Amino acid sequence: MSSAPAPRSNTGGAADADGAATGRLEGAGPDERAETVSPAYGAAAGSGEVVHIVGARPNFVKAAPVVAALDARGVRQSVVHTGQHYDDRMSAVFFRELGLPRPDVDLGVGSGSHAEQTAALMTGLEQEFIARSPELVVVYGDVNSTLAAGVVAAKLHTPVAHVEAGLRSFDWSMPEEVNRRLTDQLSDLCFATSPEAVGHLAAEGVAVDRVHLVGNPMIDTLLGNLDRFDTAALRERLDLPDSYVAATLHRPANVDDPEVVARLVARLHEVADQIDVVMPVHPRGRAALTAAGLAEHPRMHLLEPLGYIDFVTLVRASAAVVTDSGGVQEETTILRVPCLTLRPNTERPITITHGSNRLVVDSELPGLVSKILAGESFGAGAIADVPPLWDGHAGERIAAVLADWLSGAPAGANRGA
Ligand code: UD1
Ligand code: UDP
Repeated sequence: MSSAPAPRSNTGGAADADGAATGRLEGAGPDERAETVSPAYGAAAGSGEVVHIVGARPNFVKAAPVVAALDARGVRQSVVHTGQHYDDRMSAVFFRELGLPRPDVDLGVGSGSHAEQTAALMTGLEQEFIARSPELVVVYGDVNSTLAAGVVAAKLHTPVAHVEAGLRSFDWSMPEEVNRRLTDQLSDLCFATSPEAVGHLAAEGVAVDRVHLVGNPMIDTLLGNLDRFDTAALRERLDLPDSYVAATLHRPANVDDPEVVARLVARLHEVADQIDVVMPVHPRGRAALTAAGLAEHPRMHLLEPLGYIDFVTLVRASAAVVTDSGGVQEETTILRVPCLTLRPNTERPITITHGSNRLVVDSELPGLVSKILAGESFGAGAIADVPPLWDGHAGERIAAVLADWLSGAPAGANRGA
């Protein structure tokens, strides 16, 4: 299905080689099916182990402080990498830099259409959960790996904790909105990063005792690494210009349609007429952006995706950021770097009310960059205090709730199982 590496396990195999442990149904008639379905269904014995599911770049940044905080409490845990992202620069570099333990298993699922990828994720995760019988599955954010793990765990009656619950763009055309809404409904524990997320969960009928406002683990990672963001060293190593705009784009709405891409490239070139633009290019948009001539401006500097430390250092030293990333809206909020978000909406409005973020359409980019460079207001909200609890301790709060929960752990308590 993809160029991703084949599945590998560090712990001795997720399922029997003949598939028996997975309840595989291929070729089985109705009677045989009853015999081959794993007894793990509905049993949910629970091994006492917390299993974290990560697969895509933003997951790693969010999981690192949670895994570390649970480790400090001596909680038994393992990390399952789905392999949704697999290039070294989209995956392994984060494990090296952020102190995440090497995944216990990499399912090697790789890329594909939504249905192909989600189906492969669910199949791989089901085998893994049956083999491990986790006490609790922890999922992060809003990527396909998040939803797949939530669905599979719920049907195995395995409790789920969702980190970064309750964010809403109210834009159902975004795959992330589908993923996060459904995951929240399936989760026994919802960890919210901001007060409005708590409100969304309440409005959708999520029981209040399932919801915990804990702050933002992505910001834990940022604050925990502040002394590693050496802007002078990065400038020298990457031969960066003195002043530049940092850009990232990967949303399907921005990089999948060649007409949209051509327009965005023209706008980025107008920005580059004023100031150098440094852009680590996400693999999703690489071909379309290249075909539209992105590199064909002397002040456009295109890079491979950067590791976390280099990327945040790049942002920290920039005059402004142009992005459609969720995480980057949050990071610029803390770093107080002007952020122009090329989207019609955001599931992170707190980055506008408490940060330096502004939603923009492409035609606004050159004018707003010019204002930022002139030191004028660019229309972001007045800078308020940083969002509540974005203080570097979200991972510890999550670990405290999980430890309490584990000490009393009734399996699937909130679903009445
Ligand atoms: C995914 C998430 C998105 C998140 C983003 C973070 C979903 C639906 N989308 O989007 O919410 O913001 O990750 O970066 O889960 N590719 C590579 N190498 C890799 C990974 C991907 O070349 O290591 C290329 C493949 O061509 C692939 C494409 O990128 O088809 C898209 O990858 P995919 O994981 O499906 O979605 P993203 O756009 O990365
Ligand atoms: N990031 C990175 N290198 C890059 C671009 C982004 O390390 O070249 C980091 C960024 O700091 C943030 C995370 O990746 O912490 C966000 O990932 P992404 O934008 O891919 O996903 P989103 O947040 O939009 O889901």
